[in-house]
Amino acid sequence: MWYTSSLKYKDKFKEENPRHVAIIMDGNGRWANKKGKMRILGHKEGFKAVKKAVKFSIMNNLKILTLYAFSSENWNRPVFEIKSLMELFFFALDSEINNFKKFNIRLKVIGDITHFNKKLQKRIHQVEKITLNNNGLILNIAANYGGRWDIIQSVKKIVKKVQNGVLQTEKIEEKTITQYLSTSELLPVDLVIRTGGEKRISNFLLWQIAYSELYFTDVLWPDFNDCSFQNAIDSFISRERRFGGFKKI
Ligand code: IPE
Ligand code: IPE
Ligand code: MG
Repeated sequence: MWYTSSLKYKDKFKEENPRHVAIIMDGNGRWANKKGKMRILGHKEGFKAVKKAVKFSIMNNLKILTLYAFSSENWNRPVFEIKSLMELFFFALDSEINNFKKFNIRLKVIGDITHFNKKLQKRIHQVEKITLNNNGLILNIAANYGGRWDIIQSVKKIVKKVQNGVLQTEKIEEKTITQYLSTSELLPVDLVIRTGGEKRISNFLLWQIAYSELYFTDVLWPDFNDCSFQNAIDSFISRERRFGGFKKI
């Protein structure tokens, strides 16, 4: 009998797993500082943690993993760091393309990438196109992303519809805004994880996380491993999501 109950537990576990996890990968710089290394080495080590998190997501049957890679405010950093981050992004796309194919991963990028250099923009579009029909994990990278930017660009599209007479102002509702966000085709965000100890959102998904569960950990992103990810999932599973309702007892 023991195995039936453990199977039941396993099924329950799977059902209650988040489908969409979004991560604010913070702490690369501090990780490097602590080791007396340059910040960019922290970002490089952070890329290894990304690969681990992607593998974990596949193993645990998550549908979507959204990673905050570069915020619209990260342009405030020294030019050298920005340049190195762009190079790392380009390198990562190149080096991972075979894994995207092998593991059936679809890559999607959200954010205003028109500010990136043409070569990087082209490569992003290429990889998105190549992986478009992969129906495994959606790896959604937020690059030059800002939650406020996302809402603004959604509102602009809606205003155009109104101006063209296709939409009436009175018909605008929550789902209209949601429909034009960069995440419109994705499932709702169940869990947001922030590493690196800060307890803030830093202009990540704003509209989308109105009812997401939030999980903050002091672990610096390069040290984030399967065990840290599992702790976040366990915390998510132990919570009761009420969405403004109440629990029947
Ligand atoms: C997060 O790590 C990565 C990016 C923002 C690109 P940080 O670079 O912010 O690392 P800390 O917060 O300075 O330690
Ligand atoms: C948030 O980290 C952005 C990313 C992880 C890409 P930051 O390091 O930029 O956030 P703040 O400045 O501490 O709020
Ligand atoms: Mg930081």
